[in-house]
Order: sequence, then C-alpha cells, then structure tokens
Amino acid sequence: MAHYCSLNGNIVAQEQASLGVMDLAVLRGYGIFDYFLFKYGRPLLEEQYLERFYNSAQKMGLEPPLSRQELSRHLRELIAANGEDKGAIRLVLTGGYTPDGYTPGDPNLIVLQHGYPNYPESYFTEGIGLISHPFQREWPEVKSINYLTGIKLLPEIRRAGALEVLYHYNGELREAVRSNVFLVTEKEELVTPDRDILFGITRDSIFKAAEGLLPVIARKVSMEEVYNAREVFVTGSNKSVMPVVHIDGRPIGDGKVGYWSKKLKDGLEAYREGYYGAP
Ligand SMILES: Cc1ncc(COP(=O)(O)O)c(C=O)c1O
Repeated sequence: MAHYCSLNGNIVAQEQASLGVMDLAVLRGYGIFDYFLFKYGRPLLEEQYLERFYNSAQKMGLEPPLSRQELSRHLRELIAANGEDKGAIRLVLTGGYTPDGYTPGDPNLIVLQHGYPNYPESYFTEGIGLISHPFQREWPEVKSINYLTGIKLLPEIRRAGALEVLYHYNGELREAVRSNVFLVTEKEELVTPDRDILFGITRDSIFKAAEGLLPVIARKVSMEEVYNAREVFVTGSNKSVMPVVHIDGRPIGDGKVGYWSKKLKDGLEAYREGYYGAP
C-alpha cells in the first residue's frame, strides 16, 4: 500500500487521512470517482480520465476543489512522494459535508494510490465466469461510487465461481459491474453496446487496438447473442482484456479462451506501452 494519499490537495500519510462523518458520501452514498493506471510516473491516458471525472462531477452538481490543471500537477506530486514506478490512482469526489443530512456541501477530493493490478494469471489464460442480472445503472455515463447491486450479489458470484455480474435490461446487454463487455460474433465482428453504459476508457482503447484487425460495431446487443457468441471478454482499466468462458454456467464458444481475446489483450497492452513511452 502506498504511504501517502491526498485530501483536498494536501498530501498526508494514508493512515492519518480521515473524512468527517457528515460527508454525503457516508450518509447517502453520493459521490463520484475514477481510476487509472500509471507507469514510469505517467498517468495512462490522463486527458481522457480527467475529462470523464470532471464530466461526472458536473453532472452530479459537484465542483472539485482543484482545477483540472491543478489536479494533473498534484497527481504527479503524489506519485513522486510515494516513489513507486507504477501503480494505480483513484480519485474520489464526495458530496461534501451536508448541513442537513441530505443537501450536498463543498465536495471533498480524495486521491489514493493503489498497487498495480495483480489478478491471477489464470484469469487471462483460462478465462473467468460471469452471472447475469437484470439491472440498469441509474446514471450510466456517470462514474458514481454506487455499486450497491454488484456488492450485494457478491455471495451469489462466489457460489457460481464467477468474477462479476453481467447486467442486462429488457433482454439487452449493458455492461458488467466494473467493466465493459465485448463479443466476437460468428461473422468475426467485434460488437459492444452503444448506450446506457459507462463509456469505459479501456473500451475506447480496444476500438483503437482493433483497427485494421476486425470490424468493431457499437450497437444494441441482445443477451441471446451474448450466450451464442464465439468469444466474450470484459475490459476495464484494472482488468485489461479478460476472457469470459462461462455465463450463468453456460459455456461461451468452445468454453476456452479465444483467439481474439488474446490478440486484443496483446494489442491493448502494446497501445498502453506506446502511450507510456520509454522509462
Ligand atoms: C460500471 C463500469 N463500467 C465500465 C467500466 C470500465 O471502465 P474503464 O475501462 O474506464 O475502467 C467500469 C470501471 O470501473 C465501471 O465501473
């Protein structure tokens, strides 16, 4: 765990950082966040992540105490203070101290540094499972801190030997709790939903990594298509490309990690390395 975090622009030892009990994030779960990797001290695709973070804040009526430029500078200070070559950053903007238990106050900005994601290698070489659940996130394009449904379903996920929940609504695929979903059809097209989801930055990077390899189509996707896909994979900042080999206990394709899941994971990682540049 990193030693330092930051609260409203002040770098402090994480063990000593604290937030008051009247923050609306504590009382009503009101707040937003974002999460991204860094390497060689450089935040990955910083522009895109900060854009999403400030957009989420604006949509929730929250004004961060630091401007984008100040936050960008500040991130580098925190990364330098912790002295790690690579890791992950979590930005959290809360509803702030509320005067009456309901109305937002001045938001608190927390910046946490986490270790670089470290999933077991088998998740990538053997794939993962999902369970499906009918649900539509309330404000899909906002990265709110509300993960109530996914967290409530953790015992069921564990019982099914799955890693996450796949959300669908009126028979249409949406996303997974903390990742976007792609499928490879029998026609060798890469397909992903185009609405009512969080527009993942990794999803966007996959569009770029797939250029010239296979057609990518963002459109309405039925759950029928998901179960009958040749390959399914999920994408996220901390997951890269993770192949899905079963959903609700039903095998996807031949039940093994597919060609495109591997190929696009390599493509995504090459794209990311290209962004970081040389050490
Ligand atoms: C609901 C949801 N969808 C999709 C994603 C993937 O987004 P990204 O690739 O930007 O990490 C996340 C990531 O946390 C998420 O919470």
